[in-house]
Amino acid sequence: MITTDVDFIRDCLTRGDVVGFPTETVYGLAANIFDEKAIARIFATKNRPSSNPLIVHVPSIDHAKELVTYFPPKAEQLAKHFWPGSLTLILPKRAHVLDAVTAGQSSVAIRIPNHPMATQLLEKLAFPLAAPSANPYNRISPTSAQQVDFYFPNIHTLDGGECAAGLESTILSFDNDEVVLLRHGAVSVNDIENQVGRILNRTSHTALPISPGRSQKHYSPLCDLIVTYEPLFMLSAVQEKKVGILWFDKVTIESQKVLVHRVLAPSGSLQEAARNLFKCLHQMEQMGLDLLIVERLPDIGLGRTINDRLERASVK
Ligand code: TXA
Ligand code: MG
Repeated sequence: MITTDVDFIRDCLTRGDVVGFPTETVYGLAANIFDEKAIARIFATKNRPSSNPLIVHVPSIDHAKELVTYFPPKAEQLAKHFWPGSLTLILPKRAHVLDAVTAGQSSVAIRIPNHPMATQLLEKLAFPLAAPSANPYNRISPTSAQQVDFYFPNIHTLDGGECAAGLESTILSFDNDEVVLLRHGAVSVNDIENQVGRILNRTSHTALPISPGRSQKHYSPLCDLIVTYEPLFMLSAVQEKKVGILWFDKVTIESQKVLVHRVLAPSGSLQEAARNLFKCLHQMEQMGLDLLIVERLPDIGLGRTINDRLERASVK
């Protein structure tokens, strides 16, 4: 059920419901971080293992500080520059942050979303919101209220239009004085390194707890998916009957073999590609294809995040 009534959604959350809500990255499936039953309902609704911790959404840096024992100087610098925005910081948690939210870890993931309706909602609430992306475990993240409603018709979703970024937040942790990348996301590594210098990449670190955004297989469409710089070459090698191709900026062939062509970003901008990625994957998986061939993007800026998502989506 979709609504644009922020007060109604506030009331749902206050009485312990799980709701869909918009952020600039993707839609979240939200609940009160201090309500253990509501948090359990998020995991049940998504069918998500309880070992995967949630991101906490707050309206200000002061609210974030109430949840942590220490805010490293580099974290503060990054928060001041990128918040509100698509950057999640992993920080040491205070005791009152529930284990159910952090999956028993001593750290908590926090961000301030950059979406006017999310801000309005968070400012009206007496508690922060825990929210994973609003998709069933291992499915494509939603970038519109309609897509949340497609997955979860029985919950109330606040409609804030299509997400401007279209990719999940970038996740960073802090190791002594080092900044560590745990998940590529809507803020590029270049932009982060422009603020704090070189950062460590542990996006495929196996010693860390496996989490959805970091597990090898994730963001799965319903058909097989191949990501390649050479869609044409791939096409000549496959036997599948119903093939779709998702191009970066233009269609470069006509072939009887291809049932449907889509273009991610006619302008050639990586931001436009990011905004359209999950919507295109969702629409194409609904077409009953046997195989989706996706053109690999340039491995720079947001292209790295998009390629990361596509690689995880291509794991069978
Ligand atoms: O853009 C986003 O980040 C969206 C919107 C709704 O904010 N949320 C999102 O949540 O993508 P989710 O649950 O799909 O991904 C959260 C990631 C998971 O990979 C989780 O394991 C990681 O954050 N995470 C959360 N708390 C953590 C912690 N304490 N240590 C390490 N990783 C953590
Ligand atoms: Mg997710």
